Amino acid sequence: VAKNGIQPLRKLYDGKAKAVYETADPDLLVIRFKDEAPGRRRGRSPRPPFPKGVYNCSISAALFRHLEARGVPTHFVRILSDRDLLVRRLLIIPIEVVIRNIVAGSLARRLGLEEGQRLDAPVLEFYYKSDALGDPMINESHVRVMGIATPEEVQQIKETALRINGHLLRYVEQRGLLLVDFKVEFGRRSGSVLLGDEITPDGCRFWEGTARRPAGDRRRRTLGRSARAYRELSRRIAGEPIDDRPPHA
Ligand code: TMP
Repeated sequence: VAKNGIQPLRKLYDGKAKAVYETADPDLLVIRFKDEAPGRRRGRSPRPPFPKGVYNCSISAALFRHLEARGVPTHFVRILSDRDLLVRRLLIIPIEVVIRNIVAGSLARRLGLEEGQRLDAPVLEFYYKSDALGDPMINESHVRVMGIATPEEVQQIKETALRINGHLLRYVEQRGLLLVDFKVEFGRRSGSVLLGDEITPDGCRFWEGTARRPAGDRRRRTLGRSARAYRELSRRIAGEPIDDRPPHA
């Protein structure tokens, strides 16, 4: 850590999957990715520990770099170590933005749709970040009335989230993966809205398959949350770089 001259100092946030620290520079924070806490699966034997934090750190960094290179403003600065990212401090807007390309999870349950069905256009959902309320789904008028974000910010969040989706869809498709759905968060910094938080398999559904080679049955296509799945996602998403420039660039 000292190699970069940047030390994580006071802990600002401590969650299941990551902790966030201040640094000596008030503008810079360190995100430290944690391994799975043991014994979390109720009624089942706990997962053997694996370096999930290392996989999440490398996946998040690879995806943030990719988005930055395509003009999406993010809080990412650089990797500090195998579990630590250096990021710019944002004022997080308390909305979880979920984008869906294929029906799964709560969308299937809520609307009675068949899991695995491709959506004609991406579906964008807002959830209000509140542990006390259990992160309820909200819409733009709730966001406005509650003063969570301005209409201009909401517009920017929607447009950026859809651009992110397009970039990530192509990036993972080239690695044999379908991006079923994912969650992102945004924050404010000197008057603009930036992508913040993390993009890791903790907040994304990846399935095996591509648009041309659709996934097989549910068991084969779902990557799940095992050590093997994280290792494989890390290898494909953050591993050897793939030349993904358009052919005539
Ligand atoms: P869902 O189908 O359970 O609503 O999840 C949709 C996507 O959003 C999925 O990729 C997981 C992600 N997500 C989070 O990262 N955090 C959350 O609190 C929720 C509800 C979803």
